[in-house]
Amino acid sequence: MITVKNITKTYGRKQNAFVAIDNLSFQIPSRTTVAILGKSGSGKSTLMHAMSGLDRPEKGKVIIDGKDILTLKARDVDAFRANKMSFIFQSFFIQANESCFDNVSLPLEIAKVPRSKRRAKVEAALAAVELSDKKKSRARDLSGGQKQRLAIARAIVNEPEIIFADEPTGNLDSVTGEVVEDFLFQYARDKGATLIIVTHDPDLAGKCDARIEIQDGTISKMTGLPTKGKK
Ligand SMILES: Nc1ncnc2c1ncn2[C@@H]1O[C@H](COP(=O)(O)OP(=O)(O)O)[C@@H](O)[C@H]1O
Ligand SMILES: [Mg+2]
Repeated sequence: MITVKNITKTYGRKQNAFVAIDNLSFQIPSRTTVAILGKSGSGKSTLMHAMSGLDRPEKGKVIIDGKDILTLKARDVDAFRANKMSFIFQSFFIQANESCFDNVSLPLEIAKVPRSKRRAKVEAALAAVELSDKKKSRARDLSGGQKQRLAIARAIVNEPEIIFADEPTGNLDSVTGEVVEDFLFQYARDKGATLIIVTHDPDLAGKCDARIEIQDGTISKMTGLPTKGKK
């Protein structure tokens, strides 16, 4: 369960202060797929960063599996993140000069998974996105869709319970994008993971269990999530 309670994030100071997300609250049960929708600049990425502890909102709480991640020490947040969650961004965050194998191995090293256990996990993740034959290729030699599949292999290799995907297919054509999305949904289904995905695509949003629509930093509509307030 992810509980977001009254989070507010302001960028800048004084007369330049800009409230990017304003007092947002909701709960996401485990194993839920959630689409976050909204226009460019509405606060979607800010919300994702706050929910994952990548960034700290100045107000509010983010409680994941009973832990208030905003009160953890930086080191503990890093460890928590390395073992529980992963990220996929619109622009492929891969190490262009490294092999596909090494790219996928990296999160395991960060999470301090012993070397002896890494190879099998990396190979399973590459197989899951159908990139086994590219194991030794340099990441920069892949096509756009393959790079994003590599990013997914890297995001699933340590079997996270939560995946945050911020417009993961925004730079891909629609057919390639769909293939990439299918791998993400497949992982979420197979492992019972929570998938939180920012998208502009109504079809994709329709495939999710729940939707949160953001408008100017506030929630304009929410479907498929538990409503609180009942006593
Ligand atoms: N680091 C920053 N400094 C100042 N303003 C920012 C920063 N990041 C985002 N913003 C502003 O906050 C608002 C929300 O941004 P963002 O969360 O990236 O929106 P979205 O992901 O929905 O496009 C935008 O108006 C954006 O310009
Ligand atoms: Mg964004």
